[in-house]
Amino acid sequence: MELKDVLRARHSVRAFTSAPVDESVVREIIEYATLAPSTFNLQPWHFHVATGASRDAVIEVIAQTTQYLQEYVDKLGPEAVDREARFYADLGGAPAVIGVSSPFIENPLVDHTNICLSIGACVENFLLLATERGLGACNLTVPHWVAAELLRAFDVPEGRELISIMVLGYPDEQPVEQERSTDVVTWLR
Ligand SMILES: Cc1cc2nc3c(=O)[nH]c(=O)nc-3n(C[C@H](O)[C@H](O)[C@H](O)COP(=O)(O)O)c2cc1C
Repeated sequence: MELKDVLRARHSVRAFTSAPVDESVVREIIEYATLAPSTFNLQPWHFHVATGASRDAVIEVIAQTTQYLQEYVDKLGPEAVDREARFYADLGGAPAVIGVSSPFIENPLVDHTNICLSIGACVENFLLLATERGLGACNLTVPHWVAAELLRAFDVPEGRELISIMVLGYPDEQPVEQERSTDVVTWLR
């Protein structure tokens, strides 16, 4: 697939078949995803790939957050909150759930935004590579209510924090294409 076609084909997928994703495929995706740029070339990412019983444990923790989603009802509306709650109950049946962690870096030259941007670049590579392989994925915000439990469920070592979560599997839905804003540039001539 041409890069532009992959960019167009990538959508957040939130429903998956039960077909597992080969470990070799995940390894290859991670290998290429980590070609991303990073602040001071720190490559702050580490992937915690949960499948099988570990995936069940992660989902059990995330499912606890459905009770808090009502906090967003004013902003998102009841339908979106219900949809999200259904998704969070079992993460769309995704056979793999992946946490991405970074170390806490105590360096005045490296701020948290740069670490998050670096991980974001790596995550986008991951999502595009997954799309190219016919897989579906969705990036998730780390739910703050259960952040500590998630560190344990993903077996993240001390001194690191979770920056991102991704669900991965073979799509069982054709996601609706989200509209894009076009008023995104100011040309300074
Ligand atoms: C940093 C980040 C956090 C996100 N968090 C969530 C989330 O918590 N739950 C969710 O369902 N989707 C989440 N998404 C997916 C966005 O909702 C999605 O990318 C956006 O609606 C555009 O749709 P598309 O990815 O299909 O183009 C997140 C995406 C990003 C980049």
